[in-house]
Amino acid sequence: FRKKNQKENEDTNLRPSTSSHVTTYYRQLLSSDRKQQVSFVRLTEEDVQRLASIRPLFAKHVERIVNVFYNQIGQIPNLRRIIDNHSTLDRLKQTLRAYLMDMVSGEIGEQYIIRRKVIGNVHNRIGLFPEWYLGAYTIIQNEVLHILMEELPPTEATNIYRSFAKLCSFDMQIAIE
Ligand code: HEM
Repeated sequence: FRKKNQKENEDTNLRPSTSSHVTTYYRQLLSSDRKQQVSFVRLTEEDVQRLASIRPLFAKHVERIVNVFYNQIGQIPNLRRIIDNHSTLDRLKQTLRAYLMDMVSGEIGEQYIIRRKVIGNVHNRIGLFPEWYLGAYTIIQNEVLHILMEELPPTEATNIYRSFAKLCSFDMQIAIE
């Protein structure tokens, strides 16, 4: 396996996903034991496609989302302590950036689920209670909503936000189970 370099990553972020690519991954979801959860949050292939279509916009603003996120988290002393005990803000910003770009990759399939499961386990191991983990999504969702409203016409912003909220729910469900 070869690690993608920074430049390649940037290029991939700017390229829109083709719909056949999205379909291949989405089919994995429907044939997995997560099928019920996918239909429970009504995460459709169109949602995944819609999210993939805003990848360049996300790439442009991901830094801002990540900064707002850790500024807010860092203000809560017990969360700050967990961060300092286990990692550094720089490292965590890097992993959250990758996490967010994964949501708009169009590659929501079997491996995506495994990645979410691992993230859930990591937070469990560091003793972060689910109420904090779940609450933290509000910070991300608020910032994403701001960005979408700034950048897109209201109807498009609303549709994308709805798709994003569904995928957040799906991710949360996998992480905390
Ligand atoms: C690690 C995402 C909330 C503290 C991580 C990783 C990701 C991530 C992707 C890397 C996991 C890996 O190593 O594979 C998220 C998301 C959150 C969230 C999506 C909620 C929306 C929080 C909160 C804290 C936190 C509220 C507060 C303390 C940490 C720490 C690690 C970590 C300390 C590093 C653990 C280690 O490497 O031992 N997070 N996180 N996270 N997160 Fe979070």
